[in-house]
Amino acid sequence: MAIIAPSLLAADFLHLGKACDMLNESEAEWFHLDVMDGSFVPNISFGLPIIEQIRKATTKICDVHLMIVQPEKYIQAFKKAGADILTVHYEACPNLLETLSQIKAKGMKAGVAINPDTDVQVLSEYITEIDVVCVMSVFPGFGGQKFIEHTYEKVTALKNIIQIKGAYTLIEIDGGVTEHNAQALILAGADVLVAGTTVFKASDPIKSIAQLRSF
Ligand code: DX5
Ligand code: ZN
Repeated sequence: MAIIAPSLLAADFLHLGKACDMLNESEAEWFHLDVMDGSFVPNISFGLPIIEQIRKATTKICDVHLMIVQPEKYIQAFKKAGADILTVHYEACPNLLETLSQIKAKGMKAGVAINPDTDVQVLSEYITEIDVVCVMSVFPGFGGQKFIEHTYEKVTALKNIIQIKGAYTLIEIDGGVTEHNAQALILAGADVLVAGTTVFKASDPIKSIAQLRSF
């Protein structure tokens, strides 16, 4: 069974409390929170004050995805805001090991996200230090984009690296996840599915989460 991480980015921002209530009632285990800075990605989403409020309203694991430059500057701030998992981008971290160890030293799980055009092999030497690899299946910056099919091969290759190194790293897929590709992703080796549009634009979001989770 997959871990489902609905992405707040697709929720109605005028009614964030409702989004939290829905999620609390659902079978989702994580809440995916996308932070964008307008520099690492060509969009700006939300930041610390929103996460602080979500933390108070949700019973789920807060999975914070930082699409920002110099993420190492904000590790303490996101811990304080309530992140359980803090994911930084490989492409934004010149000193990845040091950043991961700082995240873990603050008591959070450490995630590393990779862009669609970054090879999974770059993570091979770090894999035992990474709790979650977030494989981007769209170019980061916007919700509602089309899933990139090449992701399946990346998941298979990443699973292979994790097994060879004897690591316990979870594989998370982020972008364009739907009820049509969820099963194939799980079969390829994914553990966690992020879903924004699929969940929040569904007529019955709780049912959509249950369906995605069942694969
Ligand atoms: C994209 C974000 C995703 C996004 C997914 O940059 O990292 O988490 O919210 O949204 P959907 O599921 O709509 O592709
Ligand atoms: Zn994300």
